[in-house]
Amino acid sequence: MRKYQLILTLLAVAMLAGCGRRAVITELSIVPEPTFMVQKEGTFTISNKTKLRFSGLGQNTSTVKYITKSLHKMSFRLSLSGTEDENVIFFSLNDTANVEIGEEGYVLEVRPEGVFVSANTEAGLFYAFQTFVQMLPDDIARMRYSRIVLPACTVLDHPRFGWRGSHRDVSRHFFSVKDIKKHLDLMAAYKLNKFHWHLTDDHGWRIEIEKYPELNDIGSWRVDRDDVPWGEAEPPRDGESRSYGGFYTKDEIIEIVSYAADRHIDVIPEIEIPGHCAEVLASLPSLGCQNDDTTYHVEIGPYWPPRAILCGGNDSVLQFLKDVLDEIIPLFPYEYIHIGGDEAMKDNWKRCPLCQARIHALGLRDEEELQSWMITEIEKYLALHGKRIIGWDEILEGGVSDAATVMSWRGADGAVQAARRGNKAIMCPTDYCYYNFYQANPKFQPQAFPAMVTLYKAYSFDPIPEGLTPAQAGCILGGQCNLWAEYINNQKMAEYMLLPRLCAASECLWSTNKDWHRFRAKMVHHRKRLETMGYTCGESSFKPILQVSKADNDMCNVALDWEVEGTQIFYHVEGDTVADDGRGILYTKPFQVPNGTVVQTTSYLNGQMKEEPYRFRILKK
Ligand code: ACM
Ligand code: ZN
Repeated sequence: MRKYQLILTLLAVAMLAGCGRRAVITELSIVPEPTFMVQKEGTFTISNKTKLRFSGLGQNTSTVKYITKSLHKMSFRLSLSGTEDENVIFFSLNDTANVEIGEEGYVLEVRPEGVFVSANTEAGLFYAFQTFVQMLPDDIARMRYSRIVLPACTVLDHPRFGWRGSHRDVSRHFFSVKDIKKHLDLMAAYKLNKFHWHLTDDHGWRIEIEKYPELNDIGSWRVDRDDVPWGEAEPPRDGESRSYGGFYTKDEIIEIVSYAADRHIDVIPEIEIPGHCAEVLASLPSLGCQNDDTTYHVEIGPYWPPRAILCGGNDSVLQFLKDVLDEIIPLFPYEYIHIGGDEAMKDNWKRCPLCQARIHALGLRDEEELQSWMITEIEKYLALHGKRIIGWDEILEGGVSDAATVMSWRGADGAVQAARRGNKAIMCPTDYCYYNFYQANPKFQPQAFPAMVTLYKAYSFDPIPEGLTPAQAGCILGGQCNLWAEYINNQKMAEYMLLPRLCAASECLWSTNKDWHRFRAKMVHHRKRLETMGYTCGESSFKPILQVSKADNDMCNVALDWEVEGTQIFYHVEGDTVADDGRGILYTKPFQVPNGTVVQTTSYLNGQMKEEPYRFRILKK
């Protein structure tokens, strides 16, 4: 009997596999929104009979391998074909450049005969493939389909900015090679192309350096306080073992850089100079200032003010930095190296005879200029090796060379100043781009840095600051989202903080035709897509987005908006009687109330109240 049951089950499975699952796609949800996309009459059906064809690039190129492997993972067994023009997915590198799409753009057409992609570069073909994948069912990463019917369409697409970055701090908490690869996969899916890897900071040195083994033996390890919240960590006690940490070996760095390159992502290592270096001074105390009798340790928990600073007057510090860079340079082929420069407290420099002697000998005005001198020395050294520097916007404070690129994080001022003097700049202002900040009401969120960037706020990021001429605006390379890891101690949490905000960053950096409501609707599909790909997403904020404008007399217009598609907002004006069900009025359109009125709201999703009631005092601007 058992045997017959087994045979019947096998038969049923075989039949199911034979018929297979069919999907009919009618609506496209591409993030980032393409420059131009139009759906047409007709369809194309992908099946196991569909052929995959490449033209203009060899079978061994990383893009061909990536595309072939990705399709294979989706269970399509598409055979490679030399010449066919029917029932084909065809990636073709242009012989003559199509000037409309530039270096990273592409044209993708779905026609009844197949999917036809062209681009000027492999990167363009790669991005076209990401768009193509997003045309497939939302659960394509998990579900097997034997036939997928796509709507005919034409997409012509290219990015608004060349710098579409994602930053990751691996010092405050350490993440495995697998975690970093997962981050890079996410970037690739959303056409981000610069991975800013924050490898050193007070809480741990995370890259192998052979010449100074102390950096890894001591600087990469700290006393483990991960069992208590970040803000409650007690300082280490004498003799406590240092068991939390780690570092990437050179082989691992090479593996990650190559994995990124296969996804058309450049990796920018960040080595902090001259501050945020407690872990260096714990490893090599002689690199600190004279008269500083602090015993440094690899930090645990909040470290503020960050007093640790490399001595600016000691030649052996410069030699140390050059030695370290000698080992870093060969690992990272991209032209940029990030040298930090942020939040360097210079109290020690004020007291240090060597630093003061350097200031006098070079005729520098103050300690800010000493930092600039130090950074410029490093910049000159890197230039000899064909490298350029990026620094946080503090590098402007004591003067900066014309070749330095400024990363503007304390608002947009750094980028504005940089662009006005002709320096290149990258935008990542905290208010829009710090994804370690809460994304919703902290009462309902895992602990995060105590500030807020909602999805709506992240989506309203414009990398071109106000007040620049068109020529100055040309100095803005683009922007990036930053993920500091003080409160992020595992990959799930990292993803929770990145998503869905990284999708907003992607659209802010790539698209020229952003539309909040369309983006919000697309996120329904992308949440599902990401979840089936194995990513964890945050739920976003349910506090209504309030817009008030002045109406006639003493009245105000009130408009409410929300972050999660399908949310229902009920409101009532305080003082009015509330409807029987206690929820108030379902918001469907803007309404008017007298200036000074308090409006209370509750948000519901799928019949469930989300977060808590909110009260807004409506005041005309
Ligand atoms: C920074 O957030 N300290 C660059
Ligand atoms: Zn000093």
